[in-house]
Order: sequence, then structure tokens, then C-alpha cells
Amino acid sequence: MKKIYTAILLSAALFTFVSGQSDILIPVSTHNTDLIFKVGNDHRLYQVYYGPKLLQTPDSKRFPRPVHLAYVTSGTDNLFEPAVRITHNDGNPSLELNYVSHQTEKTDENVTNTHIRLKDPQHPVEVILHFKAFARENVMEQWVEIVHQEKKPVTVYNYASSLLHFDAPKYWLTQFHGDWAEEMKMQENELTSGIKILDSKLGARAHMYQTPVFFLSLNEKSGENSGELIAGTLGWSGNFRFLFEVDEKNSLRVISGINPFASEYLLQPGKSFVTPPFIFTYSAQGKGYASRNLHRWAMNYGIMDGKESRLTLLNNWETTYFDFNEEKLTALLDDTKKMGLDLFLLDDGWFANKYPRNNDRAGLGDWQENKTKLPNGVGFLVKEAEKRAVKFGIWIEPEMVNPKSELYETHPDWVLKLPNRPEHYFRNQLVLDLINPEVQDFVYNLVDGMLTRFPGLAFFKWDCNRMMTNTYSVYLKDRQSHVYVDYVNGLYRVLDRLRQKYPHVPMMLCSGGGGRVDYGAMRYFTEFWASDDTDPVERIYIQWGYSYFFPALSVCNHVTSWGKQSVKFRTDVAMMGKMGFDIQVNEFNEKELAFCQEAVKNYKRLSEVIWRGDLYRLVSPYEENRAVLMYVSPGKDKALLFSYTMNIRYGENFNNARLQGLDATRTYAVQEINQFPGTMSLYPTKRLYTGDYLMNVGLNVTSFQPLTSSVIEITAE
Ligand code: GLA
Repeated sequence: MKKIYTAILLSAALFTFVSGQSDILIPVSTHNTDLIFKVGNDHRLYQVYYGPKLLQTPDSKRFPRPVHLAYVTSGTDNLFEPAVRITHNDGNPSLELNYVSHQTEKTDENVTNTHIRLKDPQHPVEVILHFKAFARENVMEQWVEIVHQEKKPVTVYNYASSLLHFDAPKYWLTQFHGDWAEEMKMQENELTSGIKILDSKLGARAHMYQTPVFFLSLNEKSGENSGELIAGTLGWSGNFRFLFEVDEKNSLRVISGINPFASEYLLQPGKSFVTPPFIFTYSAQGKGYASRNLHRWAMNYGIMDGKESRLTLLNNWETTYFDFNEEKLTALLDDTKKMGLDLFLLDDGWFANKYPRNNDRAGLGDWQENKTKLPNGVGFLVKEAEKRAVKFGIWIEPEMVNPKSELYETHPDWVLKLPNRPEHYFRNQLVLDLINPEVQDFVYNLVDGMLTRFPGLAFFKWDCNRMMTNTYSVYLKDRQSHVYVDYVNGLYRVLDRLRQKYPHVPMMLCSGGGGRVDYGAMRYFTEFWASDDTDPVERIYIQWGYSYFFPALSVCNHVTSWGKQSVKFRTDVAMMGKMGFDIQVNEFNEKELAFCQEAVKNYKRLSEVIWRGDLYRLVSPYEENRAVLMYVSPGKDKALLFSYTMNIRYGENFNNARLQGLDATRTYAVQEINQFPGTMSLYPTKRLYTGDYLMNVGLNVTSFQPLTSSVIEITAE
């Protein structure tokens, strides 16, 4: 043992004299954070700092003995989880990465790109670490490119997008898990030594059981406004993995990227393997600050048309399911108008003739209008909508097929399925092989064809109602381990083509509820369906969970008949995001209708505050039997507060909610809106308060009646 130790010391001493590069520091910075790398005496690249912005970038000698390799390799001296693992074409399983060069360029006053080139001294393999730093939003993206010039392909087994190191006495991981109709359940636990993995292996969707987002709090659990943490997420619409490893020195490495499960990749000479971005932000002021960073980043960079407005809508899924005809739909167009909504969204069931889509067992893949239900086609409905000055949108699920369909009969080889085993169904359907360019064309032509034939078509709901099982691509032949990665890239290829031709058609991302949302997909989509569960009590928790990572304008919430709560409660819950309705409007009584019409008007008047305001979570439903949150406009002149009472226990008391984000020196008028006709209000007329009062003394905003809610408008005088 002693001998080995001496040898290590000796070799370290030798390297000191070899290097001329050991003074190089590479900072990746935003307004409030620094991530700093240093080239070591051994030529390797180390992460030496990640945290609050330093007043000055220190002299490199301040970091004398870096220990955390920036991108840990495999096969030489690493004894823990690697970020990258490669087998060379001669079977050699080792990789070392030495610093070669780096380059920093500003693309505009807010965005700086940094590229760090690393190379194996023995093999012609290069890894480039890419960083994009968004100064104002304090968000960074990291992704990696792997390329080689070996004579034959190399096999890449692990290819993380990012590796971050932390040194703290304790680490707390907040994760979000669930299932269909119970998405985004929040759990927080201390990380102990060893490995904790959050991942998915669903193939065609990022999540269902685990969502690709997390908070990692350092030292102690973080609160809404206190504590040091990072928030992280992966921009990838398939299998993901976040791996947290606490080593024997209590150091933590966080490895994020595509899930390497069953996905070794044969990389041809000269071709690049490019990983998706890991998106992360650091906060020294709790989860609220981190999520506001992510919201701003998302609106400016992360989601399609994040700075544009969104359409309120009436959807027919829960009112008709598959059972509709032109007459019913025309009546729903009238309801859309009557409610003051922007768009009518025709859901599943409008297509297929040989195997009509009258339930979920047939017709998926046959995208011709069903002649019995829609004898005059979609074009007729688009025109009818136009007559009423409402827009028309439509549901598609282009990546999927029912075995009972003409598409399946014509192209059985377009389906992902094992050749030697029985087909395995989920919702009676199979996944199309989007790796096959012919299938990509089919999906592209479906959407392009519809937009060409019906130029008035103003919206798509793009669904994806299953994951992959028995996964096998006829097209890939002997490269089956590429299937998970190539599928997602095939999907992105189709979406890229569509967005080139139709850059702004709004599209809702849906996946059996909220099973697909991630920032890889959101580059193409304007919004997502958060869950099929629209019971407003459940929904408060689901929307609360999403709100940490996704801005309100992207989270679609519909008022439906799930749950027995009042229409007001359901509407107030839907209103805290992108509001829509999916309910029998003709069954509303007079007061309910009047209330909804007024709520839609209020929503339109105040949607800029909800969509673009800063979100402050004041009382968590995980801590009390109520939830209170508010949005504050960037200029602090308007705010909107939502309070929901889910339950009240005997003797339970709800304290004043202390508001946040206002200007302490200004005076604000406070008034309740969305009042149900004939009911009492907490603030029926305007009352004036200073920002200071509202933020320190607070307001009584919560009713003591279970299943009630209030929406309070706060306006600077
Ligand atoms: C999924 C969606 C629903 C609806 C149905 C239609 O379950 O989540 O909103 O569109 O598909 O089949």
C-alpha cells in the first residue's frame, strides 16, 4: 500500500513540471453564477467551482489541487460512475481526456457559448464540452459532442450531457414522480452514500413514472425563499437518466443525460454524437428563485413562441369522447363563441373509415375524415368556426397505429415490434418506427397535408398515448441498440421540418396526459397537457409540481367535470395556467354561465400577468390544507393571487398570506375578482394597502370553507 502511495505522489510531482497549461481557468458565467474549470498539471480538465458569482475570477493558483474531473472517463483510473465510456475499434476499453483548447463567443449581449475541446492522448477520440450561459436568466445549458477518427466505428456506452460536482455536508434531492393521472408528485430525501438514479426507459416519451426534473439542495433542505440548490432538467423526449453518486469523501457527482440503458451507440469515424442539453440553474435563495430563472429562460429561449400569447379554448374530449357528428360539433362552436373563448379543439375520433375511430381500438393511423361523422370534412368545420369568429384546432396522434387500421395493413414493417414475439399493446396501439425516413415523411405529410388543405387550421394537439415495449426496428437491422436514441432524433427531424414550414402554428404536446413534457420537445410546442386528471384538488398538486420547472403559459389546464367541486373552484384552478374548458357548456345554469364568461374576460384581461409574471408560491399544499400563490408583473404594477382551500381540520387556522414580489414603497388596490354571482367576497371593493403592509403583515385570503377559492387582483395606484 505504502509503495503505491509513493508512486502516485511521484507521478504527480513529475506532471507539475510537464505542464505549461496549468494556469488556464475557464469560467462559464451568468450574472449571478460562476462555473469554473481549470486545466490541471496533468493536462486534464477539472471543475473547481460552481456557485454564486465571484467578484473577481480568482488567480488559477487559488485552486491548487483540483480533484473533480470535468468529464470523467472510464477504463483507466476512475473508480466511480463515468460520464463517458467508449470501446475503441480494436477492443481497447479505455479513454483519457486531456485539455486541447477552448473558445468563448458571445452570440449577443445575453448569451455566451463556451466550447472546451478534450482529446485522448492515445486514440483519435475527441470530446467537446459545450456550454451556453444565459446571463440575465442565470441559466446554463451543457451538452457534449463526441467524435473520432479511428479506422472503424467505436462503441459509445455512456455519453452524459453533463457532470457536475458538489461538496457539501448534506445533499437533499427533490424528485417528481407519478403515473397516468397522478403526475408530478413531489418527494424530498437526503442522498446517502452510493448511487441514486432517476430515470425512464419508456422510449417514446420522457416520463410517466419519473419526470426529468429535479432540485438538489445543498447543506440543508431548501425552502421557497431560502437555501442553496440547483434545479436541473434534460431537453430530451426519450429515456433520461440523472445519477447522483455520493462517494467516500462525501463528494457528490451528478451525471445527467440520455439513459444509457440498452443504448450503446456505434459511432462511425468522422461522425459526431451530440447529446441533448442539460439545463440548470443555481439559486442561493431557494426554489422560488430557481424556478423564476427557469421560467424566464423558457419564455425567452426554451419553448416555442414563449413571448407570444396563447389561445383559450373549448375542447370536446370529455363532453363527447368519440361520439359526435357535425351537428354536435357545430353546437360546440356556438358554445366556444358564447363563452368568449378563442378556439375550438376537436379531439380524437374524427378520422378513419374502413376501421372507424369510434373507440380506441381501431382506426389510429388512418387520417382521413370519417364520412359518417363528418360528411363535409374538416374543411366544413373550419369554415363554420370562421363564421363564428373562432379558431379551429384538431387532435392528432401521428406516431402511433392501431393494428386494426389500413395503415397497419399496408405497412406492417413501419411498426416497432419484435419479429419473434406476440405484439404487445398499450391502449390497443403500437408505435410507428420514426427512425425509418418513410415513416418520418408519412408523419410530416400528414400535418403538412392538413395545413395545406385547411389553411384556417389554427392549432394541433399532438398526442402520444403509449411507451415502447417489445422494441425492435426492422429498419435498424443489426443496430437495435440505437433505437431509443434514433427514435427521438427521428421525431425531432419531423418537427424541425414542420417548424421550418410552419414556424408559428400553436401545438399542444400531449402524452396520455402529461407524460412527455421536456425542454427538447418544448422547442417545437407552445404548451403541454399536464395530466388527464382534471379533478381540481388533484390538479392543484399537479400544477404546483409543474410550476417549478415550466412557466404558466405552457401548462394547459381545462375546466372539466372531473371532481364534484363548484364551477368556480374548477375555473379558478384552471386559471393559474393556460386556461381552457372541456365541459358541457349547455348544462351550465345561468349563474354558472355568467360566472364562466366573466372569468374568461378576466383571464384575457390578466393573462399577461399570469403568463409573464414572476411566480411566488406563498403557501404550499404539501404543508397546509390550502395553496396560495401569486404572479407579479415584471414592472410590479399588477399582481394576481390565487388561494384554494382544499380542506379544513377541526381547529385549524389559516394565517395571513404574506405577499411577495411587490414594491414595498407603492400603494396597491386589492380587490377580489371571479366572484360567483350572489356570493360573499373577502374584498368586494377596492381596498388600499402599501406593498410593505402586504408583504409583511399580509392578507387574509383563504376561506375556511373546504373546496372554495379566491382570486385577488392587486393593482399599483
Ligand atoms: C389522451 C389525452 C386526452 C385525449 C385522449 C384522446 O388520453 O391525454 O386528452 O386527447 O388521448 O384519445
